[in-house]
Amino acid sequence: MAGSANLNVMMKTARKAGRALLKDFGEVENLQVSTKGPGDFVSRADKAAEALIKEELMRARPTYGFLGEEGAEIDGDDPTRRWIVDPLDGTTNFLHGLPHWAVSIALEHKGQVVAGVIYDPTKDEMFYAEKGGGAWMNESRLRVSGRHRLIESIFATGLPFAGRADLPETLQDLARILPACAGVRRFGAAALDLAYVAAGRYDGFWERGLHAWDIAAGVVIVREAGGIIEPLQPGADLLADGHLICANEPVFESFAKVIRKA
Ligand code: IPD
Repeated sequence: MAGSANLNVMMKTARKAGRALLKDFGEVENLQVSTKGPGDFVSRADKAAEALIKEELMRARPTYGFLGEEGAEIDGDDPTRRWIVDPLDGTTNFLHGLPHWAVSIALEHKGQVVAGVIYDPTKDEMFYAEKGGGAWMNESRLRVSGRHRLIESIFATGLPFAGRADLPETLQDLARILPACAGVRRFGAAALDLAYVAAGRYDGFWERGLHAWDIAAGVVIVREAGGIIEPLQPGADLLADGHLICANEPVFESFAKVIRKA
């Protein structure tokens, strides 16, 4: 698909950051056995990727604002537009040498995400969408799955770790949804969970406690692929709230009914 100049900047930047991270990912394997472990190395790689992305995007569009996972927010001269960036979604996977992580870049205009790019360098899969232009993975058009029945559907989620809040609610969600569906997956990168819903690999996804940078690019990709994405609490602000639910259209209502019972 021929995208806008902004989308091209986003994809070029995601690929550049992805290449740098892929190189670092090769090192992580060696560091597993060192006494210090790969922790500091990965956090440096994460910050370096954000710096690279920020530099590329700010050079291309100097007036836009910037919100990234790793640094303080920058207000742009143009208050209507900002980049929302997760340089490395799936940090824990990366740290453990698991090849499932991504670079996520979104563009927000007047409070709405208008373009999103999620790039998985280990599989060379570039998921992207622009409002009104459909959703794509590399050269292929994306469409959410066509499943209608909950019992045939698989869902992704995130499980709260290291003492994070929301564990009781998540366990209750699982107790209700597991008997009613074909399975639940926890792959550890929310941006890719959303991309996979758009690609019809999952039928839906829900998670609590996410941040704007985990979600933003996925919002437009899921919507452009024909999916529904909403805050878990109807009426909340999707990006600010961080508790979300999404699915293909036929299954959304029955899925949301089960999850929103909490
Ligand atoms: C994390 C991943 C994970 C989700 C966590 C996020 P990060 O993002 O998306 O799947 O369960 O809630 O924080 O920290 O790797 O960018």
